[in-house]
Amino acid sequence: MTAELGRLEDLPADYREALSHQNLVPLWPSLRAVLPPEKPQPRTRATHWSYEALRPLLLKAGELTPIEKAERRVLVLANPGHGHEKMQASAAMYLGMQLLLPGEWAPSHRHTPNAVRMVVEGEGAWSTVDGEKCPMVRGDLILTPTGLWHEHGHDGDAPVVWLDVLDLPLVYYMEASYHVDGGRQAVQPGCGDRAYARAGVVPTPVFDRSRKAYPMLRYPWAEVRAALESLAADQPDLEAVQVTYVNPETGGDAENILGFYALMLRPGQKLKLPARSPASVFHVIEGSAQVTIGGQVFALAEADTCCAPGYTSVQLDNRSDSTPAFLFIADEAPLHRKLGVFEIRG
Ligand SMILES: [Fe+2]
Repeated sequence: MTAELGRLEDLPADYREALSHQNLVPLWPSLRAVLPPEKPQPRTRATHWSYEALRPLLLKAGELTPIEKAERRVLVLANPGHGHEKMQASAAMYLGMQLLLPGEWAPSHRHTPNAVRMVVEGEGAWSTVDGEKCPMVRGDLILTPTGLWHEHGHDGDAPVVWLDVLDLPLVYYMEASYHVDGGRQAVQPGCGDRAYARAGVVPTPVFDRSRKAYPMLRYPWAEVRAALESLAADQPDLEAVQVTYVNPETGGDAENILGFYALMLRPGQKLKLPARSPASVFHVIEGSAQVTIGGQVFALAEADTCCAPGYTSVQLDNRSDSTPAFLFIADEAPLHRKLGVFEIRG
């Protein structure tokens, strides 16, 4: 491999023009940029979004823009490495903080990108997904996978905020992103989180398994937290007290492109995560955590969110000696595995 390849400006101007005229481009001037040596050069930058800082701006959006003029009242957590106008947290992940005020309704629609909502603040809101009315409680994870109708309403008396995580940048890049509007959904009886309330058993009426691609749409925080505490109590020496949100019928990832996890850091615990190829997002559900991404250190308070590029090690540090910290994590691992590019570099 030669150290330096020919540059575009090394070529005669009339030759470059002749190439351009035929929609042709010489590869060698750009070869090192598209195939860098040893390691990708991600645009994604380690970035921290403070909830304390963004909350008043989100509430102000509630005063400035009625829901009818927004449809979804969201402030996008935009990674500066990609440019704010790209509205992406990483190559494949979009993050948004969404505000719904009492009495408001975000009308029903469906779209090709997959989404999840992590409830950050407030009580009384609900999401109806594929006819299932899901209450939205702090820490709950609610899926709105590709193609499923979803709408949001709010019967409470204080603002509700949730974190949206979508694979929108990827689906948009694929030129496969679109939405369809719909009317109010008829609510059907049944809740996936009740049907799959206990681990190890699944509903089998007359020996028959569910044929739904997404049998569970709401993962209540109370259940996930209890699972983490149970795991921590069962294995006191376990370094990473972590669970993955899965499809209870298949055991596979809950959605096709992004992965979702919950992690408990014991009081005073430091946890080093290996450098993995996918980018990751960390959101504090309870407690606080210091997150070191490469050489950068971020102090995350409750409800704060940060993003780490791929191929970078991450250290999580619960600096409280008395209380555990609970984190929600999203990453691009299912996508990387499906594409055969998933790597752990240690
Ligand atoms: Fe949506």
